[in-house]
Amino acid sequence: MAEIIQIKDLKVHYPIRSGFFNRVTDHVLAVDGVDFIIEKGKTYGLVGESGSGKSTTGKAIIGLEKVTSGSILYQDQDVTRAHNRKAMKYNKDVQMIFQDSMSSLNPKKRVLDIIAEPIRNFERLSDQEEKKKVKGLLDIVGMPEDALYKYPHEFSGGQRQRLGVARAVATNPKLIIADEPVSALDLSVQAQVLNFMKNIQEEYGLSYLFISHDLGVVKHMCDNIAIMYKGRFVEIGTRQDIYTNPQHIYTKRLLSAIPKIDVAHREEHKAQRRLVEKEYIENQKDYYDQNGRVYDLRTISDTHQVALKDGGAV
Ligand SMILES: Nc1ncnc2c1ncn2[C@@H]1O[C@H](COP(=O)(O)OP(=O)(O)OP(=O)(O)O)[C@@H](O)[C@H]1O
Ligand SMILES: [Mg+2]
Repeated sequence: MAEIIQIKDLKVHYPIRSGFFNRVTDHVLAVDGVDFIIEKGKTYGLVGESGSGKSTTGKAIIGLEKVTSGSILYQDQDVTRAHNRKAMKYNKDVQMIFQDSMSSLNPKKRVLDIIAEPIRNFERLSDQEEKKKVKGLLDIVGMPEDALYKYPHEFSGGQRQRLGVARAVATNPKLIIADEPVSALDLSVQAQVLNFMKNIQEEYGLSYLFISHDLGVVKHMCDNIAIMYKGRFVEIGTRQDIYTNPQHIYTKRLLSAIPKIDVAHREEHKAQRRLVEKEYIENQKDYYDQNGRVYDLRTISDTHQVALKDGGAV
């Protein structure tokens, strides 16, 4: 197994300050001990509801958020701290696509400058070469050449998201962290952007960390998936493990929340959802400790781990 990045016991705790002296009185445990490996050319899905710590995990990996403890190994080198990243070309090799393209693309800059910016940080190209490169990138994401001199507000949400993809691949990265890249888009446009992402992946042998709150979206993109809840992983496994053999009640709940297009069985799905919800409420104590914390992961197969109480049923 060729791995591109390994995350070990990662924690990100935000201090909460309060009172007259603005002292640190508590911490938000946004990410509280997660371990995972992303393989070369593969997509790792990170799924969980709002506030579970997905974005914080992504930002900590790329260096936008301070790591409280744990480590990040990129191609076997420790890149947890900023000073080690330079030698590894980490800032060039690892890029991010954000959920909200309107605020992540500078509204005052033309597309040419937006997409060329990451290139300018790492390469010296003539204006001519740079323009050629940006045109090529626009072509890869199915955007016309005349987009070069337009501004972000002149595009639709789906087009802007594709510009975000073009910008992220500009430096020929090895890993892209895609934080809810299609959540703000219509279903048909979602499929389009995901297809571009898949094509680019095959062409360049890219790895993705694909963040989403929706197990439906992740299904066709991911090789491996981690289900996150309150800063911890409740279950990790291959796509097969998660969709056909879910073990944690929280995973089952997320699966039952996937919207079904199949109208004929709508009542059946509704009943199923109610059943899962009931099980979720009644069996909390089997799945979370007395403080509501997710248990440590236990191995149930070579590829599949679930956070269950010691001595609990597997
Ligand atoms: N800068 C910050 N200071 C304090 N708490 C923060 C900060 N950023 C995030 N948090 C908290 O950390 C937790 C995890 O936030 P995060 O943004 O990682 O969640 P998420 O899974 O990405 O959610 P969403 O699906 O809504 O994007 C939340 O409880 C959030 O309120
Ligand atoms: Mg988020």
